[in-house]
Amino acid sequence: MNRYWLETYGCQMNKAESNSLEMEMLESGWTAAESAEEADVVILNTCSVRATAENRIWGRIGKFKSIKKKHPHTLVMMGCMAERLKDDIGRLAPAVDLVVGTFQKNTLFRLLQQAGAEVASSKLDETGDYRFSRRHAKRDDYKALVPIMHGCNNFCSYCIVPYVRGRETSRNPENLFKEMDDLVNRGVREITLLGQNVNSYTFSEAGPTLDFPGLLHELFRRFPDAPWIRFLTSHPKDFSDELIDCMSAYRALCRHIHLPVQHGSDKILRAMNRKYTRDIYIALVEKIRRKLPDVRLGTDILIGFPGETEEDFRLTLDLLNRIRFDDAFTYYYNPREGTKAFEMEDSVPEKVKLERLGEIIELQRSITAEKKLRRVGSTERVLVEEISRKNECEVLARTEGDEMAVFPGDSSDLGTFRTVRLTGLRGGTFTAAAAE
Ligand code: SAM
Ligand code: SF4
Ligand code: F3S
Repeated sequence: MNRYWLETYGCQMNKAESNSLEMEMLESGWTAAESAEEADVVILNTCSVRATAENRIWGRIGKFKSIKKKHPHTLVMMGCMAERLKDDIGRLAPAVDLVVGTFQKNTLFRLLQQAGAEVASSKLDETGDYRFSRRHAKRDDYKALVPIMHGCNNFCSYCIVPYVRGRETSRNPENLFKEMDDLVNRGVREITLLGQNVNSYTFSEAGPTLDFPGLLHELFRRFPDAPWIRFLTSHPKDFSDELIDCMSAYRALCRHIHLPVQHGSDKILRAMNRKYTRDIYIALVEKIRRKLPDVRLGTDILIGFPGETEEDFRLTLDLLNRIRFDDAFTYYYNPREGTKAFEMEDSVPEKVKLERLGEIIELQRSITAEKKLRRVGSTERVLVEEISRKNECEVLARTEGDEMAVFPGDSSDLGTFRTVRLTGLRGGTFTAAAAE
């Protein structure tokens, strides 16, 4: 019997690709091991975006090396870190038996099928093309992550993604719609369309070019009763008026936009190669909010980039105060070998980076809390995700704006939409009560 243990790090794209692999394995008679110690094959789907991500994975490789001494297994490393280090892993980590880069993922399953745990790295195809899998949700999932774009052409100067994921490729819409058909028939309630830059989708094989708004129009023409649809991640430079119009036309498109700004200083934005200025970004947000007053806006902030002065940093705090995002993921700059910024002097000391990060987190936390408190008393539609781990008489649900709400419920609520009244805040989570 073939038993696997799969660990996934990094972004939603990795999660979707892991789901796809796992589903193929399960359908071919593999079983999920109860623990890594019982597995015949251990697969690490890795991330390279920050050194912290890679350090965690090195730690796991060390752990599996010691498990292997008592319980031999085949250790497979796939994903972005595998792509980045594929020529060096043999030397750096001899415990790894097989390294599967970004463009070889589909080959991995075939190999595992042919040879079970006894795979040999020499058999991997190196095609150079990214191929989308056919399906990405597991059988009982009521939420699905569905990649439609892969790779990145933007080369932000700090970012490793274009080097490990390659150039942008858009998925054939017919294949996407086939997958959607299956998901909709199965009653999946939420579909997240994924891409490193999802809104630069362009497909033009044998026919007129289809852009992202065009894809959404076609999606809703074919699936007028589509469930909640989200999309991640949008680049500000590609957020068109047509896309804003789409979001106001189709109620099933969740009014939540993740729109990374990264920084508030034009000097740093230019050095980051982000292709917009602070004013262009502010004007875009104003336009979005004019047409979609109830939209929730999230962002990514990256502080401590080479050359960032106290004044540049203050401009970022000022931008957060001006825009008042609903939420933000905040990071401090890590040099990544191979990127443009790696050649610049990493001029902001670690201590200052951490202080600035702390200040950013504190400011955003207070803005998020204030904005949420203002919504207490309002009614929202939520999708129930799980039983609360803290109290089994409560369920956790997600709002359209991608926030958590907790309220009394049981397993019969799982995977259903509920209308609730927001009653307060418990940490970052809304407390709520049934409003139907
Ligand atoms: N494609 C998305 C975009 O355009 O913003 C984001 C992709 S990246 C996987 C997610 C976030 O990681 C980025 O928005 C950035 O803030 C952060 N990030 C990327 N490279 C980084 C680095 N070298 N150090 C720290 N954070 C980084
Ligand atoms: Fe990285 Fe920039 Fe591409 Fe996002 S747009 S994946 S931050 S290079
Ligand atoms: Fe990490 Fe690769 Fe995603 S570097 S963030 S897993 S695209």
